[in-house]
Amino acid sequence: MRELEPERDAASIVEVLNDPAFVRNVGDRGVRTNAEAAVYIRERIAPSYDRFGFGMWLVELVANAEPIGICGLLKRDALEDVDVGFSLLERYRGCGYAFEAASAAMTYGWEVARLSRIVAITVPHNSRSIALLQKLGMQFEKMVQLVPDTREVMLFAASAGGQAQSDSK
Ligand SMILES: CC(C)(COP(=O)(O)OP(=O)(O)OC[C@H]1O[C@@H](n2cnc3c(N)ncnc32)[C@H](O)[C@@H]1OP(=O)(O)O)[C@@H](O)C(=O)NCCC(=O)NCCS
Repeated sequence: MRELEPERDAASIVEVLNDPAFVRNVGDRGVRTNAEAAVYIRERIAPSYDRFGFGMWLVELVANAEPIGICGLLKRDALEDVDVGFSLLERYRGCGYAFEAASAAMTYGWEVARLSRIVAITVPHNSRSIALLQKLGMQFEKMVQLVPDTREVMLFAASAGGQAQSDSK
């Protein structure tokens, strides 16, 4: 997992953001071209790296550096706690990569960013995401509405020292 770079990773971001499951479950970011994706990375993703020391990272295969999706930690204005997010390209789902990436992001959250809580949000019909969050040791807390007049989403949470924390602690 590594930081996204505007020009280098634009094509990967176009593919991830326009995946039908991403649009259905997360939303349509309106990013269609490499030029738009470069702006999106520069303005919407990269600032978090400097501000918080974490953000949405690119997930690559170790063997050949093939980009397979995005995963990372976000601090949104609408949520008090940092949340973990993930989205893989369809051909790389069902291999355990999302669990591996999200586990690594959460370990970074506990051990490097020293967070006391990590949350996650998902729409209620996203059964793959819910299963993954439960496998990560997160528990459903409540329904929340991040933006007025939009659909409610499920909020999951894990606490430092809880079962979602790494075994080394
Ligand atoms: C949500 C999402 C990231 C989950 O990805 P995923 O690949 O299904 O998740 P996992 O990494 O947990 O792998 C799932 C399956 O891979 C298999 N798997 C797990 N580890 C494995 C391993 N080491 N070797 C082989 N297969 C493995 C298992 O069958 C596992 O299913 P299980 O949970 O029943 O055990 C993916 O569906 C996605 O990108 N969706 C579209 C975008 C989206 O909705 N994002 C979430 C917004 S909240």
